[in-house]
Amino acid sequence: MSTVPPSFPLPAEPSIPDEHVTSTPALDLFKLAAAEFIVAQIPEVSLDKAFEGVESGKTGKNVSGDFTVAIPRFRLKAKPNEVAEQLVAAFQPTAYLASIKANGAFVYINVQTTALYKLVLAQINTQTYLTPDESHSVVDAFEQLSLKDADLPPAGLSLLKKNGYGTNKSGDGKKIIVEFSSPNIAKPFHAGHLRSTIIGAFLANLYEANGYKVLRMNYLGDWGKQFGILAVGFERYGSEAELEKDAITHLYDVYVKINRDGESDESIHDRAREFFVKMEAGDEQAVGLWKKFRDLSIVKYKETYARLNIYFDLYSGESQVSGESQAKALEQLQGTGIVEESEGALVVDLKKYKLEKTVVRKKDGTSVYITRDIGGAVERYNKFHFDKMVYVVASQQDLHLAQFFKVLDLMGYPWAKTLQHVNFGMVQGMSTRKGTAVFLEQILDESKRVMHEVMQKNEAKYNAIEDPEYTSDKLGITAVKVQDMAGKRINNYEFKWERMTSFEGDTGPYLQYAHVRLSSVERKNAPEIVLPPPSDRATAIDVSLLQEPKAREILLLLSEYPNVVRSALKSLEPSTICTFAFRLCHAISSAWEVLLVRGQPREVALARLWLYVSAKDVLGSAMRLLTLEPLERM
Ligand code: ARG
Repeated sequence: MSTVPPSFPLPAEPSIPDEHVTSTPALDLFKLAAAEFIVAQIPEVSLDKAFEGVESGKTGKNVSGDFTVAIPRFRLKAKPNEVAEQLVAAFQPTAYLASIKANGAFVYINVQTTALYKLVLAQINTQTYLTPDESHSVVDAFEQLSLKDADLPPAGLSLLKKNGYGTNKSGDGKKIIVEFSSPNIAKPFHAGHLRSTIIGAFLANLYEANGYKVLRMNYLGDWGKQFGILAVGFERYGSEAELEKDAITHLYDVYVKINRDGESDESIHDRAREFFVKMEAGDEQAVGLWKKFRDLSIVKYKETYARLNIYFDLYSGESQVSGESQAKALEQLQGTGIVEESEGALVVDLKKYKLEKTVVRKKDGTSVYITRDIGGAVERYNKFHFDKMVYVVASQQDLHLAQFFKVLDLMGYPWAKTLQHVNFGMVQGMSTRKGTAVFLEQILDESKRVMHEVMQKNEAKYNAIEDPEYTSDKLGITAVKVQDMAGKRINNYEFKWERMTSFEGDTGPYLQYAHVRLSSVERKNAPEIVLPPPSDRATAIDVSLLQEPKAREILLLLSEYPNVVRSALKSLEPSTICTFAFRLCHAISSAWEVLLVRGQPREVALARLWLYVSAKDVLGSAMRLLTLEPLERM
């Protein structure tokens, strides 16, 4: 974040936040107070620069503070050490700032703890979630999109309301398309697709939390010669009943069998090519069969996505790019001088840009992957006028994406600059424990089974769970997703059952466990200790009773959350949010012994309970942002 929040007048006494405060993270008000203090002493520094210079949470050798300011960054004529001393000498405590220390060229500032509690907890308190009805309008993000195309978000998915704690308006209604998942019909949903699905769904949420209008698009691999193969195979091995039951598994079985036959029987490939030519020519029968395969596959995909808490506004796909826009693109391309003919095929030479050469039209005139992407991007722009479009695709396709982005740029489309490839590394060894999986569902089922076994080990707790099937499924999915999002996107990782399903270490089950435990504090202390309604808490609860360093540590973490959401938008790394969630969980799990609620004087118990409930809300928000469904019990 580089700019000062819209000039927010500092009140003499921080009072309970009004509507301004909900859009300016409470922590920023304190940073602003520090920045104003600096500017008052060193007028050469602009308020913007000063605000940027107030960093939270850094520690020096023997000193630490809530904020650190490195004086050299202001590039002043005076010696930094002297400026630091000057600041210390001039300091007077205010309603926001409590104390200051200098250490060499650095100053460390501590905020007024009680004021921070009041403002931060009150902001978290106003957090609300969209009702299913309201989520509907989120789905209809782009007016041009008719709702019949769109999925409703799954019932279990509660999106954070705009203006909620941890959201901001930096995207200010800008439209973005996030294309992700994009599996190939009839081929396995492999680890690359799983990563695209998990990371893409997170990014869509992240853009939404930062104020963007998001269109979630699935670009299916639903066109090509493989459908010819499938058609020939279906004639031989197909079953209507199996297709209805589970199109994805059945089509895959058929595909495997017919490919085996095809190894010794070239005529299968000839017939497949013929079928695909018919498809491209719009032959009714061929297109009819293809459409049936596609529609039934989508039905099945939707089930799996819903299980993952993921949905799409639009199921597009390679088949949806019209021949016309591809032809038009090729025509336009020929005017750019980068196209050449090579043995009947059309080739684009991008060597000048270190992007090699690539075929854009085959010898037999059939379309290719990259040309569909070029035509597809133009169609998407014409239809949606996006401000930005993100493609979430494995790094194996780095070259492909760079090539077609470049081609669009050379074609003169100004919006080509707004296209972004968000890539990621590979997953090694994604299979069931017996080493047999091909399908995502098998992985999810197995993960569920493992979690179920773990839960059963504690009989008393297990018996208290209302729906162990549901709970173990959600736990299993959390394990898979968090393993995927905990590291930097670009890194490869090894799929490890033991580690990802453990409740110890930075894992998905660990996050869920922390959330469950936070949920149980409220339950366990009722009916003796019950929080007043949200709007009364700030006045009814004495937060000055929360003086323990542990409580303060949790408070500071909570105060940082809105800025973490902002910074994640820069890195586009889910790990930014994961790391925050883990830090919060670590702080909480070491607090239980120190910050008891039970058996405490009523006022102390209430203050601590409010802190725990706030921690639960923020952890829950971070988890939802990561597409996880926070559990209340396990
Ligand atoms: N279906 C492709 C594959 O599985 C991924 C599509 C990526 N998106 C794109 N616009 N090319 O390899």
